[in-house]
Order: sequence, then C-alpha cells, then structure tokens
Amino acid sequence: MMSDLIVFSGSANRPLAQGICQWLKIPLGEALVGRFKNGETRIKIEQNVRNMDVFVIQPTSNPSDHHIMELLIMIDALRRASAARITAVIPYYGYAKQEKKTAGREPISAKLVANLITTAGADRVVALDLHAPAIQGFFDIPVDNLTAIPILADELMETEGQDHIVVVSPDAGGVARAYDFRNRVGAGFALIAKHRPEPDTNEVLEMVGDVEGKTAVIVDDMISTGGTLAEAAYMLIERGARQVMAYAVHPVFAGDAMERIHHSMLDRVVVTNTIEVPPEFRDGKVQVLDISALIAQAIRRIHEGSSVSALFEAMRYRQEQLI
Ligand code: R5P
Repeated sequence: MMSDLIVFSGSANRPLAQGICQWLKIPLGEALVGRFKNGETRIKIEQNVRNMDVFVIQPTSNPSDHHIMELLIMIDALRRASAARITAVIPYYGYAKQEKKTAGREPISAKLVANLITTAGADRVVALDLHAPAIQGFFDIPVDNLTAIPILADELMETEGQDHIVVVSPDAGGVARAYDFRNRVGAGFALIAKHRPEPDTNEVLEMVGDVEGKTAVIVDDMISTGGTLAEAAYMLIERGARQVMAYAVHPVFAGDAMERIHHSMLDRVVVTNTIEVPPEFRDGKVQVLDISALIAQAIRRIHEGSSVSALFEAMRYRQEQLI
C-alpha cells in the first residue's frame, strides 16, 4: 500500500519535509526547485510519479508569494506527469489573516489563494491550525485542518504541570483554540479583548479572568510581529501574574518580532516548526517543538484511507505514539 506514496518539498521548509519522510520511512522525492535567471520559479520533478499518491510539503510563509508560486508550479508539474492524486500539505497557510473584508474595496486573499491551489490541480489539502477554520470552506476539495494544540499542551504538562496555570486567549477570535488547550491541561481561563486600529498594530482593551499569583499561559495560532504577545504579557504582569509564557503554533516572526519578544515580559515562548526557525532565533526563551510526526501520521492515514480525526480523539499523546 505504501509503495506508491511519495512526498515532495518546495523550498519553504525542507527540514520539516525530511523529518516527515523519516517518520514515513521513505526518501524525499527528487525535484529541482530553483529559479531561472530572470527570477521566475523553476521546478522539475526528477522521478516518475505516474499513478502515484503524491504529497507536496510547502508552508506558504514569508516570502509568501514566492512559496505559493513554487507550490502551484509543483502541483502543475505533478499533474502533467500523471500523478494519481496530489495533496498540498500547507502547515502554515499564508494570507490566512485576509479571510474576510473588514472594509470596502478590500480583497479576500485567502480565498484567492485557495482558488489558485485548486486550479493548479490539487486534489486535497492538509493544513494545520488555520487562522480561521472557515478557510476550509474556501476549497471545494477535501481539507484536513490538523492541530498542534495537543502537542503544545503536552509540553506544558511535562514542563510545568497544571498547578497555578491560567490559560489566556489574547483575543476573542482565539477563544476556541485557547479553550481547547485549557481543556487539555485542566487550568483556569482568562480572555483579553484586543482591538487592532490598523494592520500589524494592536491595542489591548480589557481582560476577563483572574491571573493574580498564577502562571499565565497565552495560547495563539501565530506570532507575527510579536505585538499581541508583548502587550498581553505586560497586561498580565500588571494584573499580578507571577510569570507569563506563550504557546503558539506558527512562528511567523515578522520584522523585529524576536527583539520585541526578548524585550517583553514573557518568560518562555514555545512554537512549532511549521515554519523554519533560524538557529539564531532558538535560545533560552524560544523553544521549537517538532510536528513532523503529526503530519506524517496524517499523510499515512490519508494514503491508507483511514480516519484523520481519530488522531485527535486522544486527550494527550506523545509523538512517538503517533506512528
Ligand atoms: C490574530 O488574530 C492572531 O490570532 C494573532 O494574535 C496575531 O496574528 C499575532 O500577530 P502579531 O504577533 O503581529 O501581534
């Protein structure tokens, strides 16, 4: 059954793709992924894919436009090379924050990207902690939206235990995600109401919940500029939290995010490797958890036609138990 499974990678996060292949015990598919001298993306699939079940790993992280083009062109090449089925595995979905119009004459870029991926020839999509779960509905092909929340919650249980923990959602939009995390660790819950006057800025408004003398654990889907976390941490310390940690899935780390994090009140920041984190960003404060086993297991289940949602039914699990 596994013989016709093949995994390719764009250039966005090859270490993650290699990790996934190690769990699956298959070599990474051979493909040329580069650029022509004029700057255009150049892809060449270097092995036979006829009638094969193909998965392409490509988070559409910064530079998002380039990584999206690589993904689209790779899907096109695979379709023209007669792959039986092509699954776009997008651990971080770029443009996800542009999923609705917030003012007149704005685009819905997340929908446009979904259209492009479908038109290129993808048969299905695997994503992970989509910023807005409704993005699944932007596709008319199957989408599995995996979550790394159990892995993040597990890490907290192993390092801190559940005593004196309050899980904090840094905005109203993240309540369901933070609540899921909270249910897994069995802690208290608080919510910060955040207002964003304009893109990439934020202004904390109010907080509901008690963090006095507690370890506040902020749970979010992504860290972009780091502004949300820095502001939230400041407010939590002001409200009497003993220490503040952050658990987020996607380390976007835009601009001077790392500097902002290091100068913030945060004691510890835990992220995953959906986006490649440069070694210089990993230090005493920032820790990166590997989610390759989770994605490998989802790929295996899709390939074998078994349930993907069953993966998340267990309250807690270790990555080694996934495979
Ligand atoms: C917002 O809705 C998201 O869930 C994150 O809170 C946000 O994207 C983080 O962005 P930044 O790090 O730039 O504040």
